Amino acid sequence: MITILGIESSCDDTSAAVIRDGVILSNVIAGQAVHERYGGVVPELASRAHQQNIIPVVHDALKQAGISKEEISAVAFTRGPGLLGSLLVGTSFAKGFSSALNIPMIEINHLQAHVLAHFIKEDAQDTNQPGFPFLCLLVSGGNSQIILVKSYDEMEIMGQTIDDAAGEAFDKCAKVMGLGYPGGPVVDRLAKLGDADRFTFSKPRIAGYDYSFSGLKTSFLYFLRDELKKDAGFIEKNKEDLCASLQKTIIDILMDKLYLAAKDLRIKEVAVAGGVSANSGLRAAFEEYSRRYGWKIHIPKFAYTTDNAAMVAITGYYKYLDGEFCSPDVIPYARVSI
Ligand code: KG4
Repeated sequence: MITILGIESSCDDTSAAVIRDGVILSNVIAGQAVHERYGGVVPELASRAHQQNIIPVVHDALKQAGISKEEISAVAFTRGPGLLGSLLVGTSFAKGFSSALNIPMIEINHLQAHVLAHFIKEDAQDTNQPGFPFLCLLVSGGNSQIILVKSYDEMEIMGQTIDDAAGEAFDKCAKVMGLGYPGGPVVDRLAKLGDADRFTFSKPRIAGYDYSFSGLKTSFLYFLRDELKKDAGFIEKNKEDLCASLQKTIIDILMDKLYLAAKDLRIKEVAVAGGVSANSGLRAAFEEYSRRYGWKIHIPKFAYTTDNAAMVAITGYYKYLDGEFCSPDVIPYARVSI
């Protein structure tokens, strides 16, 4: 029996989870409302909140899992990428925990963990995991990538954004409309009430499987600026249609390249991961492509879309099986590829 404690603290969510033999026992996430009034994550405040949250969150994760800390085989923690001060809290906790219990530490790449979230089993009978190789669209506030997943630890980036991430496009455009932070979920909610074909925004023309979202953000900004000159109430009167049209444009950009990659690589098993995978329009687009092109799709549970320690623990589980442990003098890294 292998029991992994996962720790995630890369950005503004403090999370701890327990996974036993690949099956989820608990996944506790403490968010940080302190950033809302600043319109974005404030790194120093994030690390302080992690320090306050980490022990209660781990305590709850063990309690919900119904296990004692002596039953844990290893502690897996996010080493990067992320905010350095935030990562330091999780890394330091993992060091203290592993040394006190004399158990190994496993370092986890946060992006790889988002992809492997699809392997978390809800119970021992759960067999709904992807088969290798598959494609994963990883879309979050910091990343937009098409990843070819060849095995648990072999992943190749086929395409990625050359500027903004999809989540940033949602958030920045939402900010221009005065919808608060993070704007992605608000755009999603308002888009359900609007007409997605009402407005058209420019789509990038770049080669291969790469993405670009900065042009969309600029064209959205200029469009609003011109309309607001004619009618100061333009955003308020049209926000549902604006959100629906913006969301459709972002989804079309994402799906066009994903389709191209799937076609060229002749892969029919396709997954989505990361914060933006919570978007209802993107989920519907996956269903649509599944019907139209016979894709076998993998859409994560909502709890595994945003940053969470369950994905860290499952990645740790597979590394444990391979005997991939790290040294106690490991330091976090802010930037790293998959
Ligand atoms: O993976 P994640 O939790 O962490 C970061 O990369 O920071 O992703 C957060 C991103 C934010 O940009 C947020 O606006 C976006 O995911 N997001 C959404 C939705 N839920 C979260 N975007 C669109 N629709 C949603 N329902």
